[in-house]
Amino acid sequence: MSDRSCLAVILAAGEGKRMKSSIPKVLHPVAGLPMVAHVVRAASSAGVGAVAMVVGRGAEDVEAAVRPFAENVSVHVQTERLGTAHAVLAAREAIANGFDDVVIMFGDTPLVDEAALSKARGKLAAGADIVVMGFHPADPTGYGRLVEHDHKLFAIVEDKDANPDQKKIGYCNGGLMAISGKHALSLLEAVGNKNAKGEYYLTDIVSIGHARGLHAVSVEVDAASVLGVNTRVELAGAEALFQARTRKSMMLAGVSMTAPETVFFTWDTEIGAETNIEPNVFFGHGVKIEGGVTIRAFCHLEGAKVAAGSEIGPYARLRPGADLRAKSKAGNFVEIKKAVIGEGAKVNHLSYIGDAEIGAGANIGAGTITCNYDGYNKQLTQIGAGAFIGSNTALIAPVSVGANSIVAAGSVITKNVPDDAVAYGRAKQEIREGRAPVLHARNKAIKDSKNAK
Ligand code: UD1
Ligand code: MG
Repeated sequence: MSDRSCLAVILAAGEGKRMKSSIPKVLHPVAGLPMVAHVVRAASSAGVGAVAMVVGRGAEDVEAAVRPFAENVSVHVQTERLGTAHAVLAAREAIANGFDDVVIMFGDTPLVDEAALSKARGKLAAGADIVVMGFHPADPTGYGRLVEHDHKLFAIVEDKDANPDQKKIGYCNGGLMAISGKHALSLLEAVGNKNAKGEYYLTDIVSIGHARGLHAVSVEVDAASVLGVNTRVELAGAEALFQARTRKSMMLAGVSMTAPETVFFTWDTEIGAETNIEPNVFFGHGVKIEGGVTIRAFCHLEGAKVAAGSEIGPYARLRPGADLRAKSKAGNFVEIKKAVIGEGAKVNHLSYIGDAEIGAGANIGAGTITCNYDGYNKQLTQIGAGAFIGSNTALIAPVSVGANSIVAAGSVITKNVPDDAVAYGRAKQEIREGRAPVLHARNKAIKDSKNAK
């Protein structure tokens, strides 16, 4: 199949009024990625080489959203919404380039099944001229019905044009189609608008093709993969389905989750096998976790890398640029940003480590803060391998602590500490023997004199 050239025409000219949004509907995200980018990703995985976007508004934003997922993208504006065939013809210039296959997809179906797309292209390669993605919705009202005999597709009848017998058909058009490139333009150009809606129906190419002796078939897909999003309620539904799919594929790939329904992924989250995830964990953009990591309850991760055998949380926050090397630890109420935590190093409790390099095996005591920001600039803190930073230390960056040195608890470190040194950066403790009874007596007398008034 890979030697067949393929164009995907993605329809995204819908106004999306029901989203009540200032941005085009197809740019609303599912798992952190615009819906239309999910569609283009699926197309690219199914071997599509060129993408023609049909948009109504926000052309530049739509193009920017899909560009990372396809090498060859063209954008076509459909100024009037006269129906799905009319929309496809807005990309006439791209279709006329003579691709072997032309696939038509909708920009608001973020869960589109790339396996089904590949299967549809396989049918074209095997000689079909038109392949339609069919599905069995719980309620077929509103969908085009597939009129089939002996596995041959004769027509698609839109809901508003269907007679009572056709309305009983439960097998419906999911909207996605694959058309043989050599027939695509002439089929689309033959579509008229004499129907209940007065629109140019893409679906009419099936009966037009049949009349010309072309071969049309359907491929059945599950309802989720053609689920269209029109409202924010449906957007949340698509998000839930995406999350459910991702959890399942992660678990099947060897990731354990105690309560999978409470763990949320972004489309690009990567997690290695034998990682354990406790309840209530959120993965934002760009997280890469290697294998054998333990992520305890209530962690929030974004743009972080965590190497094998590390332990995170509970209640840890890893922000962009957190880079935890093998067998390191970030414990409860620890925030890490743009910092390398060396192999086997531990930041176990109540710390902020930002703009820092922590050497292998270092131990960062409870309440340690890297003071990385002066209100204008960010500065670096460097801590050598095997160093021990006592609890409640403030490291005023730029500053470094050498390998194997010790910083006393409660220190404010403003000067670089060499290797193997001990640094105290705190007020010296004083003892006054016998002084406490004097203070007790004095304070009691003050209180008593107040009460006497
Ligand atoms: C369409 C199909 C129907 C199928 C259903 C599946 C047609 C005629 N009907 O119906 O058989 O069961 O999808 O969901 O194709 N669009 C444009 N420009 C237009 C019209 C539509 O870009 O002029 C885009 C829309 O933004 C949308 C897609 O095409 O993404 C489908 O259009 P829509 O109006 O939702 O078609 P349906 O009536 O749902
Ligand atoms: Mg629709």
